[in-house]
Amino acid sequence: MNSITNIPPAIKTYTPQSPKQLNFCGTAPVEKLGKDIYVGARNFLIQETAFFREPETLEFVKEYLTTALKHKPEINIIDGACSKGYETYTLAMMLDNAGKKINITGFDLGTNAIEEAQKGVFFIKQVTGNPEVCSMYKMGYSAFGDDYLAFATQEALTEKQAEYQKMFNEFFTEIPYKEKFSLHDWLMGIMLKKWTPKIETKAFQIKSEKADTCKFVQGDILKLDEIVPEHSADVLLFRNALYHLTTKEGPLNFKIPLDDEMIIPMVKNVVEQVDKAIQKDGLFVIGEHPNDHILTTGKTLYKELENHNFSPVLKNSDGSISYIWKKN
Ligand SMILES: C[S@@+](CC[C@H](N)C(=O)[O-])C[C@H]1O[C@@H](n2cnc3c(N)ncnc32)[C@H](O)[C@@H]1O
Repeated sequence: MNSITNIPPAIKTYTPQSPKQLNFCGTAPVEKLGKDIYVGARNFLIQETAFFREPETLEFVKEYLTTALKHKPEINIIDGACSKGYETYTLAMMLDNAGKKINITGFDLGTNAIEEAQKGVFFIKQVTGNPEVCSMYKMGYSAFGDDYLAFATQEALTEKQAEYQKMFNEFFTEIPYKEKFSLHDWLMGIMLKKWTPKIETKAFQIKSEKADTCKFVQGDILKLDEIVPEHSADVLLFRNALYHLTTKEGPLNFKIPLDDEMIIPMVKNVVEQVDKAIQKDGLFVIGEHPNDHILTTGKTLYKELENHNFSPVLKNSDGSISYIWKKN
C-alpha cells in the first residue's frame, strides 16, 4: 500500500477573498427546477459561478495533490454542483502541469447548466461605472471577479492574476459575441437610469486540444453513487451549493433555513454519500457561502463529517469555518 509522504501542515488557515471587486462575471442563468425534483424547498437553482472563484481552496487542493498524494500517478476529481463548468475548467487549468494524470468529472442537477458546460463556450462579463451603482448591480447577482482574465484593468495584475490569465489563455480562445437582451440588465437600466453601469461580455471557446480535460454529466449530490464508483474520488468538491438543500426562498429571494427536522437528515444523507464516494486520504471541499457553515447546517455538517472520520485541513483565519476536510 502506498504511504503518505510530505503531508502539508495538518491545518492551514486563510482569509477568504473579500467581495470588494466591482467587476465580475461568470454568472449563469437561473434554471427553474422540475417539480418532480426535490432539493430543499427551492424553486430555482442559482448557478452563479466564475473562473478562479475562491482560488485559495483550489490552491490548497493543488498543493495537497502534489505533496501528500505525490506518489499517486492518477487522480480522480469530482466537481459536484459544477454549474456551467467554470469551476471544473479552473481545476483543469490549475492542475494541467501537476505531473500526473488528472481525471475530472463535473456534475450538476441542472440539465441546462450541464448542456452549457458541454458546449465549452464560456462568458466573462465586465461591469464598469460608478462604484456604488456597480455594488448595487452586484446585489442582483453577487458574483465574482474574473474579468481580469479577459479585460484590461486600470491596475496592474497581481502575480497570481497574471499566472491565472496565462493559464486561461492556454485553454481558451476568444470567439465573436453579440450581447443578448437581458431582462435583468434592462430592469436595472430603468431603475438606475443615469448611473446605469456599462456591461460588456466576451465569449471564449475551449481549445480543441484541451476539450477532453473535463467530462460533464447531469446528476444529484444525493445520488452520488450513481455517478461516482465507491471510494474512487481523491477530491470531491461541493462548493457553494449545500444551501440549495437546506434553505427555502423567502420574500425577495432571501434564503430562509428549513426546519431542523428537514436539514438534519438532508445533511446526514449528503455526508453519507460523500463518505462513500471518497477514498482514504481524499479531500472534501466546501465553498465559502456562509449558509453552508452556519446554524444547524454547519453544525450538522461538521459533526457528521467528524463522525465519518473526516478532519478539517483548511480553516478560515479565526478557525471558525472549515472549508476542506480530509478523510482519515
Ligand atoms: C451557486 S452554484 C455554485 C457553483 C460552483 N460550485 C461554484 O462554487 O462556483 C450552486 C450549484 O449547485 C447546484 N445544485 C443544487 N443542488 C444540487 C444537487 N442536489 N446536486 C447537484 N447539484 C446541485 C445548482 O444547480 C447550482 O449550479
